[in-house]
Amino acid sequence: MQMADLLNHKKAGLALTAAEIEYFVSGFTAGDIPDYQAAALLMAICLRGMTDEEAAVLTDCMARSGDQLDLSPVDGVTADKHSTGGVGDKTTLIVAPLCAAAGLKIAKMSGRGLGHTGGTVDKLESIPGFRVALSNKEFFEQVNRVGVSVIGQTGNLAPADKKIYALRDATQTVDSIALIAASIMSKKLAAGAQNLVLDVKCGSGAFMQTPEDAQHLARLMVEIGKRCGRRVTAVITDMDTPLGTHIGNALEVTEALEILQNRGDESLRTLCLVLSAQLLQSGLRLTAEEARQKAEQTLKSGAAYAKFLEMVEAQGGDAELLAHTPNFLHAKCSRRVMAPQDGYLVKMQTRIIGESAQLLGAGRAKKDDAIDYAAGLVLHRKTGDLCRAGEPLATLYAASAHRLDEGEARFLSALSFGKTPSETKPLILGKVE
Ligand code: URA
Repeated sequence: MQMADLLNHKKAGLALTAAEIEYFVSGFTAGDIPDYQAAALLMAICLRGMTDEEAAVLTDCMARSGDQLDLSPVDGVTADKHSTGGVGDKTTLIVAPLCAAAGLKIAKMSGRGLGHTGGTVDKLESIPGFRVALSNKEFFEQVNRVGVSVIGQTGNLAPADKKIYALRDATQTVDSIALIAASIMSKKLAAGAQNLVLDVKCGSGAFMQTPEDAQHLARLMVEIGKRCGRRVTAVITDMDTPLGTHIGNALEVTEALEILQNRGDESLRTLCLVLSAQLLQSGLRLTAEEARQKAEQTLKSGAAYAKFLEMVEAQGGDAELLAHTPNFLHAKCSRRVMAPQDGYLVKMQTRIIGESAQLLGAGRAKKDDAIDYAAGLVLHRKTGDLCRAGEPLATLYAASAHRLDEGEARFLSALSFGKTPSETKPLILGKVE
Protein backbone atom coordinates (compact mmCIF):
# COMPACT_ATOMS: atom_id res chain seq x y z
CA MET A 1 0.00 0.00 0.00
CA GLN A 2 1.18 3.55 -0.72
CA MET A 3 -0.03 6.99 0.33
CA ALA A 4 -0.46 7.81 -3.38
CA ASP A 5 -3.29 5.22 -3.55
CA LEU A 6 -5.08 6.72 -0.54
CA LEU A 7 -4.69 10.23 -1.96
CA ASN A 8 -6.12 9.17 -5.33
CA HIS A 9 -9.03 7.35 -3.72
CA LYS A 10 -10.04 10.24 -1.49
CA LYS A 11 -9.44 12.80 -4.28
CA ALA A 12 -11.97 10.83 -6.36
CA GLY A 13 -14.46 10.86 -3.46
CA LEU A 14 -14.18 7.14 -2.69
CA ALA A 15 -14.41 5.71 0.81
CA LEU A 16 -11.08 4.56 2.25
CA THR A 17 -10.91 0.96 3.43
CA ALA A 18 -10.20 0.05 7.06
CA ALA A 19 -6.75 -1.18 6.00
CA GLU A 20 -5.99 2.13 4.27
CA ILE A 21 -7.05 4.15 7.32
CA GLU A 22 -4.99 1.93 9.63
CA TYR A 23 -2.00 2.34 7.27
CA PHE A 24 -2.32 6.14 7.42
CA VAL A 25 -2.81 6.44 11.18
CA SER A 26 -0.07 4.04 12.21
CA GLY A 27 2.37 5.28 9.53
CA PHE A 28 1.86 8.95 10.33
CA THR A 29 2.07 8.40 14.10
CA ALA A 30 5.30 6.45 13.68
CA GLY A 31 6.79 9.21 11.51
CA ASP A 32 6.91 7.05 8.37
CA ILE A 33 4.47 9.22 6.38
CA PRO A 34 5.68 12.77 5.71
CA ASP A 35 3.62 15.81 6.70
CA TYR A 36 3.04 16.87 3.08
CA GLN A 37 1.29 13.62 2.18
CA ALA A 38 -0.69 13.58 5.44
CA ALA A 39 -1.74 17.21 4.88
CA ALA A 40 -2.89 16.39 1.33
CA LEU A 41 -5.02 13.52 2.64
CA LEU A 42 -6.53 15.68 5.39
CA MET A 43 -7.43 18.35 2.81
CA ALA A 44 -9.01 15.70 0.55
CA ILE A 45 -11.04 14.46 3.56
CA CYS A 46 -12.11 18.03 4.27
CA LEU A 47 -13.32 18.50 0.71
CA ARG A 48 -14.75 15.03 0.04
CA GLY A 49 -15.92 14.02 3.53
CA MET A 50 -16.02 10.58 5.10
CA THR A 51 -18.75 7.99 5.57
CA ASP A 52 -19.79 7.14 9.14
CA GLU A 53 -17.95 3.84 8.75
CA GLU A 54 -14.72 5.58 7.71
CA ALA A 55 -15.02 8.06 10.60
CA ALA A 56 -15.59 5.21 13.09
CA VAL A 57 -12.55 3.29 11.80
CA LEU A 58 -10.42 6.45 11.89
CA THR A 59 -11.52 7.10 15.49
CA ASP A 60 -10.79 3.54 16.55
CA CYS A 61 -7.30 3.59 14.97
CA MET A 62 -6.52 6.94 16.64
CA ALA A 63 -7.81 5.69 20.02
CA ARG A 64 -5.53 2.63 19.73
CA SER A 65 -2.47 4.67 18.66
CA GLY A 66 -1.16 4.97 22.25
CA ASP A 67 -2.10 4.11 25.83
CA GLN A 68 -5.70 3.22 26.63
CA LEU A 69 -6.92 3.70 30.15
CA ASP A 70 -8.19 0.44 31.60
CA LEU A 71 -10.92 1.41 34.06
CA SER A 72 -11.47 -2.18 35.26
CA PRO A 73 -10.07 -1.33 38.75
CA VAL A 74 -13.07 1.01 39.15
CA ASP A 75 -15.92 -0.67 40.91
CA GLY A 76 -19.21 0.55 39.40
CA VAL A 77 -20.61 2.20 36.29
CA THR A 78 -18.06 4.55 34.72
CA ALA A 79 -19.15 7.78 33.09
CA ASP A 80 -17.57 10.82 31.45
CA LYS A 81 -18.68 14.05 29.81
CA HIS A 82 -17.21 16.22 27.10
CA SER A 83 -17.97 19.70 25.90
CA THR A 84 -16.84 20.84 22.46
CA GLY A 85 -15.68 24.07 24.08
CA GLY A 86 -17.14 27.46 24.75
CA VAL A 87 -16.93 30.54 26.94
CA GLY A 88 -17.85 30.35 30.63
CA ASP A 89 -18.43 26.59 30.45
CA LYS A 90 -17.91 25.33 34.00
CA THR A 91 -20.43 22.47 33.73
CA THR A 92 -17.89 19.73 34.57
CA LEU A 93 -17.39 21.27 38.03
CA ILE A 94 -21.10 20.70 38.69
CA VAL A 95 -22.06 17.65 36.58
CA ALA A 96 -19.13 15.45 37.72
CA PRO A 97 -19.81 15.66 41.50
CA LEU A 98 -23.57 15.60 40.94
CA CYS A 99 -23.43 12.34 38.94
CA ALA A 100 -20.98 10.83 41.45
CA ALA A 101 -23.31 11.74 44.33
CA ALA A 102 -26.13 10.04 42.38
CA GLY A 103 -24.19 6.78 42.04
CA LEU A 104 -21.99 6.91 38.93
CA LYS A 105 -18.18 6.62 38.95
CA ILE A 106 -16.65 9.65 37.26
CA ALA A 107 -13.04 9.04 36.22
CA LYS A 108 -12.42 12.12 34.16
CA MET A 109 -9.44 13.52 32.33
CA SER A 110 -9.81 17.15 31.31
CA GLY A 111 -7.82 19.63 29.28
CA ARG A 112 -6.33 23.08 29.68
CA GLY A 113 -7.67 26.20 27.99
CA LEU A 114 -6.25 27.61 24.80
CA GLY A 115 -7.25 30.77 22.93
CA HIS A 116 -10.74 32.03 23.70
CA THR A 117 -11.93 28.86 25.50
CA GLY A 118 -11.17 27.86 29.07
CA GLY A 119 -10.14 24.43 30.37
CA THR A 120 -11.39 22.53 33.42
CA VAL A 121 -7.88 21.67 34.60
CA ASP A 122 -6.97 25.38 34.85
CA LYS A 123 -10.19 26.10 36.74
CA LEU A 124 -9.44 23.36 39.27
CA GLU A 125 -5.83 24.48 39.62
CA SER A 126 -7.05 27.90 40.71
CA ILE A 127 -8.13 26.20 43.98
CA PRO A 128 -5.18 26.45 46.41
CA GLY A 129 -3.48 23.05 46.77
CA PHE A 130 -5.59 21.19 44.17
CA ARG A 131 -3.55 18.50 42.40
CA VAL A 132 -4.50 17.62 38.83
CA ALA A 133 -1.60 15.17 38.42
CA LEU A 134 -2.42 11.89 40.20
CA SER A 135 -0.85 8.49 39.57
CA ASN A 136 -3.18 5.89 38.07
CA LYS A 137 -3.24 4.16 41.45
CA GLU A 138 -4.28 7.37 43.27
CA PHE A 139 -6.81 8.15 40.54
CA PHE A 140 -8.53 4.75 40.72
CA GLU A 141 -8.41 4.71 44.52
CA GLN A 142 -10.11 8.12 44.67
CA VAL A 143 -12.77 7.19 42.10
CA ASN A 144 -13.59 4.06 44.10
CA ARG A 145 -13.63 5.87 47.45
CA VAL A 146 -15.13 9.28 46.57
CA GLY A 147 -16.87 8.45 43.30
CA VAL A 148 -15.20 11.20 41.30
CA SER A 149 -11.79 12.44 40.29
CA VAL A 150 -10.95 15.03 37.63
CA ILE A 151 -7.32 15.13 36.54
CA GLY A 152 -5.18 16.40 33.65
CA GLN A 153 -4.49 14.08 30.76
CA THR A 154 -1.83 11.52 31.64
CA GLY A 155 0.07 8.94 29.66
CA ASN A 156 0.26 8.84 25.96
CA LEU A 157 -3.46 8.90 25.10
CA ALA A 158 -4.29 9.08 21.36
CA PRO A 159 -0.88 10.37 20.16
CA ALA A 160 -2.19 10.12 16.58
CA ASP A 161 -4.68 12.87 17.43
CA LYS A 162 -1.93 15.13 18.80
CA LYS A 163 0.06 14.83 15.55
CA ILE A 164 -2.92 15.04 13.22
CA TYR A 165 -4.43 18.00 15.13
CA ALA A 166 -1.16 19.96 14.94
CA LEU A 167 -1.08 19.43 11.17
CA ARG A 168 -4.78 20.34 10.77
CA ASP A 169 -4.20 23.50 12.75
CA ALA A 170 -1.43 24.55 10.33
CA THR A 171 -3.24 23.56 7.10
CA GLN A 172 -6.77 24.95 7.52
CA THR A 173 -8.21 21.45 7.88
CA VAL A 174 -9.66 21.74 11.38
CA ASP A 175 -13.21 22.39 10.21
CA SER A 176 -14.08 18.94 8.89
CA ILE A 177 -16.91 17.40 10.90
CA ALA A 178 -15.53 13.86 10.41
CA LEU A 179 -12.05 14.92 11.58
CA ILE A 180 -13.42 16.82 14.59
CA ALA A 181 -15.61 13.84 15.57
CA ALA A 182 -12.69 11.40 15.24
CA SER A 183 -10.39 13.72 17.20
CA ILE A 184 -12.79 14.14 20.14
CA MET A 185 -14.04 10.57 20.23
CA SER A 186 -10.56 8.98 19.95
CA LYS A 187 -9.55 10.68 23.22
CA LYS A 188 -12.82 9.74 24.92
CA LEU A 189 -12.56 6.10 23.82
CA ALA A 190 -8.95 5.93 25.05
CA ALA A 191 -10.06 7.40 28.41
CA GLY A 192 -12.14 4.29 28.95
CA ALA A 193 -15.58 5.25 30.35
CA GLN A 194 -18.58 3.17 29.25
CA ASN A 195 -21.08 6.04 29.34
CA LEU A 196 -20.51 9.44 27.82
CA VAL A 197 -22.55 12.61 27.45
CA LEU A 198 -21.43 15.13 24.84
CA ASP A 199 -22.28 18.82 25.03
CA VAL A 200 -22.02 20.07 21.45
CA LYS A 201 -21.89 23.85 21.50
CA CYS A 202 -23.37 25.90 18.71
CA GLY A 203 -23.02 29.61 17.96
CA SER A 204 -20.61 32.52 17.88
CA GLY A 205 -18.40 31.15 20.69
CA ALA A 206 -18.21 27.59 19.33
CA PHE A 207 -16.57 25.49 16.62
CA MET A 208 -20.00 24.77 15.15
CA GLN A 209 -21.70 27.96 14.03
CA THR A 210 -25.01 26.56 12.76
CA PRO A 211 -27.55 24.17 14.33
CA GLU A 212 -27.26 21.96 11.22
CA ASP A 213 -23.49 21.50 11.64
CA ALA A 214 -23.85 20.96 15.39
CA GLN A 215 -26.53 18.33 14.78
CA HIS A 216 -24.32 16.63 12.19
CA LEU A 217 -21.33 16.54 14.57
CA ALA A 218 -23.47 15.30 17.48
CA ARG A 219 -25.08 12.56 15.39
CA LEU A 220 -21.72 11.39 14.04
CA MET A 221 -20.08 11.24 17.50
CA VAL A 222 -23.01 9.29 18.94
CA GLU A 223 -22.84 6.89 15.98
CA ILE A 224 -19.07 6.43 16.39
CA GLY A 225 -19.56 5.72 20.09
CA LYS A 226 -22.23 3.13 19.30
CA ARG A 227 -20.05 1.40 16.69
CA CYS A 228 -17.21 1.30 19.25
CA GLY A 229 -19.39 -0.24 21.98
CA ARG A 230 -19.99 2.79 24.24
CA ARG A 231 -23.26 4.35 25.39
CA VAL A 232 -23.11 7.92 24.09
CA THR A 233 -25.74 10.65 23.99
CA ALA A 234 -25.36 14.27 22.93
CA VAL A 235 -27.03 17.55 23.81
CA ILE A 236 -26.72 20.49 21.42
CA THR A 237 -26.60 23.76 23.33
CA ASP A 238 -26.47 27.43 22.55
CA MET A 239 -23.10 29.20 22.65
CA ASP A 240 -24.24 32.45 21.07
CA THR A 241 -23.99 33.97 24.52
CA PRO A 242 -21.51 32.99 27.27
CA LEU A 243 -22.69 30.30 29.66
CA GLY A 244 -23.61 31.71 33.07
CA THR A 245 -22.19 35.02 34.23
CA HIS A 246 -18.60 34.32 35.31
CA ILE A 247 -15.67 33.86 32.88
CA GLY A 248 -12.17 33.14 34.20
CA ASN A 249 -10.74 30.32 36.27
CA ALA A 250 -11.33 31.09 39.97
CA LEU A 251 -14.41 33.13 39.03
CA GLU A 252 -15.91 30.05 37.35
CA VAL A 253 -15.21 27.91 40.43
CA THR A 254 -17.06 30.56 42.44
CA GLU A 255 -20.03 30.40 40.07
CA ALA A 256 -20.02 26.58 40.16
CA LEU A 257 -20.16 26.77 43.98
CA GLU A 258 -23.22 29.03 43.70
CA ILE A 259 -25.03 26.50 41.48
CA LEU A 260 -24.02 23.62 43.75
CA GLN A 261 -25.59 25.60 46.61
CA ASN A 262 -28.80 26.13 44.62
CA ARG A 263 -28.19 29.77 43.79
CA GLY A 264 -27.00 31.58 40.68
CA ASP A 265 -27.67 31.60 36.95
CA GLU A 266 -30.79 29.71 35.88
CA SER A 267 -29.56 28.70 32.40
CA LEU A 268 -26.33 27.24 33.79
CA ARG A 269 -28.29 25.28 36.40
CA THR A 270 -30.69 23.99 33.72
CA LEU A 271 -27.88 22.85 31.43
CA CYS A 272 -26.09 21.05 34.27
CA LEU A 273 -29.30 19.24 35.20
CA VAL A 274 -29.94 18.22 31.56
CA LEU A 275 -26.40 16.87 31.09
CA SER A 276 -26.48 15.06 34.44
CA ALA A 277 -29.88 13.50 33.68
CA GLN A 278 -28.60 12.23 30.30
CA LEU A 279 -25.68 10.52 32.01
CA LEU A 280 -27.78 9.10 34.85
CA GLN A 281 -30.34 7.80 32.37
CA SER A 282 -27.78 5.90 30.30
CA GLY A 283 -25.50 4.84 33.17
CA LEU A 284 -28.13 3.80 35.73
CA ARG A 285 -30.67 2.64 33.12
CA LEU A 286 -33.37 5.02 34.37
CA THR A 287 -36.28 6.47 32.44
CA ALA A 288 -35.86 10.08 31.32
CA GLU A 289 -38.25 11.24 34.06
CA GLU A 290 -36.54 9.19 36.79
CA ALA A 291 -33.15 10.56 35.71
CA ARG A 292 -34.42 14.15 35.67
CA GLN A 293 -35.85 13.78 39.17
CA LYS A 294 -32.70 12.12 40.49
CA ALA A 295 -30.47 14.88 39.09
CA GLU A 296 -32.67 17.59 40.52
CA GLN A 297 -32.95 15.97 43.91
CA THR A 298 -29.18 15.35 44.14
CA LEU A 299 -28.51 19.02 43.47
CA LYS A 300 -31.30 20.32 45.71
CA SER A 301 -30.33 18.16 48.69
CA GLY A 302 -26.77 19.53 48.80
CA ALA A 303 -25.31 16.07 48.05
CA ALA A 304 -23.65 17.35 44.84
CA TYR A 305 -22.11 20.29 46.77
CA ALA A 306 -20.79 17.98 49.51
CA LYS A 307 -19.35 15.67 46.82
CA PHE A 308 -17.54 18.58 45.15
CA LEU A 309 -15.90 19.57 48.44
CA GLU A 310 -15.01 15.92 49.09
CA MET A 311 -13.33 15.71 45.69
CA VAL A 312 -11.42 18.96 46.30
CA GLU A 313 -10.18 17.70 49.64
CA ALA A 314 -9.21 14.29 48.24
CA GLN A 315 -7.06 16.02 45.60
CA GLY A 316 -5.27 18.22 48.14
CA GLY A 317 -7.36 21.36 47.60
CA ASP A 318 -8.43 23.71 50.37
CA ALA A 319 -12.08 22.67 50.74
CA GLU A 320 -12.44 24.64 54.00
CA LEU A 321 -11.49 27.83 52.18
CA LEU A 322 -14.07 27.18 49.42
CA ALA A 323 -16.78 26.38 51.94
CA HIS A 324 -16.23 29.60 53.89
CA THR A 325 -14.89 31.99 51.24
CA PRO A 326 -16.47 31.26 47.85
CA ASN A 327 -14.74 34.40 46.42
CA PHE A 328 -11.44 32.83 47.35
CA LEU A 329 -9.10 34.64 44.98
CA HIS A 330 -8.87 38.38 44.38
CA ALA A 331 -7.40 40.15 41.38
CA LYS A 332 -5.16 43.17 41.98
CA CYS A 333 -7.32 45.47 39.86
CA SER A 334 -10.95 45.60 38.83
CA ARG A 335 -13.13 47.89 36.76
CA ARG A 336 -16.81 48.16 35.99
CA VAL A 337 -17.63 48.59 32.30
CA MET A 338 -20.61 50.87 31.74
CA ALA A 339 -23.19 50.75 28.97
CA PRO A 340 -22.22 53.35 26.35
CA GLN A 341 -25.84 53.97 25.33
CA ASP A 342 -29.48 53.14 26.08
CA GLY A 343 -30.85 50.09 24.30
CA TYR A 344 -31.29 46.36 24.23
CA LEU A 345 -28.19 44.20 24.20
CA VAL A 346 -29.01 42.37 20.97
CA LYS A 347 -25.78 40.44 20.42
CA MET A 348 -22.70 39.35 22.39
CA GLN A 349 -20.06 37.89 20.06
CA THR A 350 -19.10 35.15 22.43
CA ARG A 351 -15.73 34.31 20.90
CA ILE A 352 -14.67 37.96 21.33
CA ILE A 353 -15.80 37.92 24.96
CA GLY A 354 -13.58 34.85 25.43
CA GLU A 355 -10.73 36.79 23.84
CA SER A 356 -11.38 39.63 26.27
CA ALA A 357 -11.02 37.20 29.21
CA GLN A 358 -7.79 35.95 27.65
CA LEU A 359 -6.44 39.51 27.34
CA LEU A 360 -7.32 40.12 31.00
CA GLY A 361 -4.99 37.21 31.82
CA ALA A 362 -7.44 34.31 32.22
CA GLY A 363 -6.31 32.42 29.11
CA ARG A 364 -3.34 31.50 26.99
CA ALA A 365 -2.43 32.64 23.49
CA LYS A 366 0.23 29.89 23.30
CA LYS A 367 0.33 26.51 25.01
CA ASP A 368 3.09 27.43 27.49
CA ASP A 369 1.81 30.90 28.50
CA ALA A 370 1.22 31.47 32.23
CA ILE A 371 -2.31 32.38 33.30
CA ASP A 372 -3.68 34.57 36.07
CA TYR A 373 -6.24 32.48 37.97
CA ALA A 374 -7.94 35.56 39.45
CA ALA A 375 -8.45 37.30 36.10
CA GLY A 376 -11.67 37.37 34.08
CA LEU A 377 -15.04 39.03 34.02
CA VAL A 378 -18.46 38.87 35.58
CA LEU A 379 -21.38 39.79 33.33
CA HIS A 380 -24.17 41.93 34.77
CA ARG A 381 -26.13 42.09 31.50
CA LYS A 382 -26.63 39.44 28.83
CA THR A 383 -28.21 39.19 25.39
CA GLY A 384 -31.82 40.39 25.43
CA ASP A 385 -31.40 42.68 28.46
CA LEU A 386 -32.40 46.32 28.38
CA CYS A 387 -29.48 48.59 29.34
CA ARG A 388 -29.40 52.25 30.32
CA ALA A 389 -26.37 54.41 29.47
CA GLY A 390 -23.96 54.43 32.43
CA GLU A 391 -25.27 51.20 34.00
CA PRO A 392 -22.68 48.48 34.65
CA LEU A 393 -22.51 45.78 31.95
CA ALA A 394 -19.70 43.77 33.51
CA THR A 395 -16.91 43.86 36.08
CA LEU A 396 -13.44 43.04 34.78
CA TYR A 397 -10.60 41.61 36.91
CA ALA A 398 -6.89 41.64 36.02
CA ALA A 399 -3.40 42.15 37.41
CA SER A 400 -2.85 45.61 35.89
CA ALA A 401 -4.64 48.67 34.52
CA HIS A 402 -3.05 47.98 31.14
CA ARG A 403 -4.68 44.54 30.97
CA LEU A 404 -8.00 46.09 32.04
CA ASP A 405 -7.71 48.59 29.17
CA GLU A 406 -7.10 45.82 26.65
CA GLY A 407 -9.83 43.59 28.04
CA GLU A 408 -12.36 46.41 28.18
CA ALA A 409 -11.80 47.50 24.57
CA ARG A 410 -12.19 43.90 23.35
CA PHE A 411 -15.24 43.32 25.54
CA LEU A 412 -17.05 46.42 24.24
CA SER A 413 -16.25 45.44 20.63
CA ALA A 414 -18.23 42.21 21.16
CA LEU A 415 -21.51 43.97 21.98
CA SER A 416 -24.27 45.30 19.72
CA PHE A 417 -27.17 47.40 20.94
CA GLY A 418 -30.55 47.92 19.31
CA LYS A 419 -33.90 49.59 19.89
CA THR A 420 -35.84 46.33 20.05
CA PRO A 421 -34.87 43.08 21.77
CA SER A 422 -33.45 40.33 19.56
CA GLU A 423 -35.19 36.99 19.36
CA THR A 424 -34.06 34.84 22.28
CA LYS A 425 -32.74 31.38 21.46
CA PRO A 426 -33.45 28.32 23.56
CA LEU A 427 -30.50 27.01 25.56
CA ILE A 428 -31.08 23.40 24.53
CA LEU A 429 -31.16 23.22 20.73
CA GLY A 430 -31.47 19.47 20.37
CA LYS A 431 -30.55 16.01 21.61
CA VAL A 432 -29.17 12.90 19.95
CA GLU A 433 -29.83 9.70 21.87
N1 URA B 1 -11.65 19.54 19.88
C1 URA B 1 -10.86 18.46 19.63
O1 URA B 1 -10.43 17.77 20.56
N2 URA B 1 -10.56 18.18 18.36
C2 URA B 1 -11.01 18.89 17.30
O2 URA B 1 -10.71 18.56 16.18
C3 URA B 1 -11.82 20.02 17.57
C4 URA B 1 -12.13 20.31 18.88
